[in-house]
Amino acid sequence: MPRIISVTGQKGGIGKTTSTVHIASRLADLGFKTCIIDFDTTQSNATRSVIGPIWEQSEKVRGICDIMANGGGLDEVFYATGRENLYIIPSEKKDARGSNYNIEALLNQLGLEGFNLLKDLITESKELNSCHFVLIDNAPSLGITTVGSLLAADYFIIPVQTSDLSMESIGDTITAGLKVKRMQNPYLESLGFFVASMDKRPKMSKKAIVELGELSNKTGVHFFETMIPISSKFGFLPRDKKTIFDVTKTSERGHREYLSLVDEILERIKEIETSEAKSSKTKTTKTRAPRKEA
Ligand SMILES: Nc1ncnc2c1ncn2[C@@H]1O[C@H](COP(=O)(O)OP(=O)(O)OP(=O)(O)O)[C@@H](O)[C@H]1O
Ligand SMILES: [Mg+2]
Repeated sequence: MPRIISVTGQKGGIGKTTSTVHIASRLADLGFKTCIIDFDTTQSNATRSVIGPIWEQSEKVRGICDIMANGGGLDEVFYATGRENLYIIPSEKKDARGSNYNIEALLNQLGLEGFNLLKDLITESKELNSCHFVLIDNAPSLGITTVGSLLAADYFIIPVQTSDLSMESIGDTITAGLKVKRMQNPYLESLGFFVASMDKRPKMSKKAIVELGELSNKTGVHFFETMIPISSKFGFLPRDKKTIFDVTKTSERGHREYLSLVDEILERIKEIETSEAKSSKTKTTKTRAPRKEA
């Protein structure tokens, strides 16, 4: 059984896709079979960052939109990438006739089934169930696709930009995650939030860290120690289908912090699962099925 991590945040441009790709790539480099599900079906940025726009590669290549709109299973659209151990379920913007998919509208039409479609498709996928980790990249919204992703996930993680607007929106994302946990998916755990691009101005960054610490204390949601600095190198990576790990030395800005973020994530998962295992010995509550060591 994979650990499914939804990378969420309602604000645009906060680093969801960049962090999904980097966390997934590092997990793959560590030897974990890892798959990215590109569930930002309007932008397909994770797909572009990892294998390029699939409709440019071959007219016959399909992605998650085709499966959701026309039926089939995710194993049909499970692709290897140029990186060992890293796979992707891509998102394609257009159907075979060249019209744009509107997955948000499609899922809304399906009602309850629409909310659960991603979860059901993941459950039925042999390929995904053979992965250690599945990372879901989401659109910048708290609409039905993001809620569907939270329903399918074991964990959610929130990237944050140290600008005031983004700070405000984290509260809403946390609330949405905790609401899904309370009402629909008791297995969902918040991994926490992390700074995905740190403001270079010392005054701004200091203020942001204090505010994020306060938010963490108030909500009980973990605030990761590792903070990813701003680096212009990130901007060029999607075009070349590369990660910061491929183009910089281990000691360079961005590279070393993403390594340390993934260490922290693995540590945090271990902590959560150890405490779940302990409480399942004392309580009669249902627990997740056992998984391979992270
Ligand atoms: N640490 C960083 N330093 C500098 N630029 C970064 C950093 N992280 C991400 N970026 C850049 O910021 C932009 C937005 O990042 P990204 O696409 O990951 O955000 P997003 O939250 O997925 O956006 P959207 O909500 O539109 O999907 C991209 O151009 C990306 O290259
Ligand atoms: Mg994105």
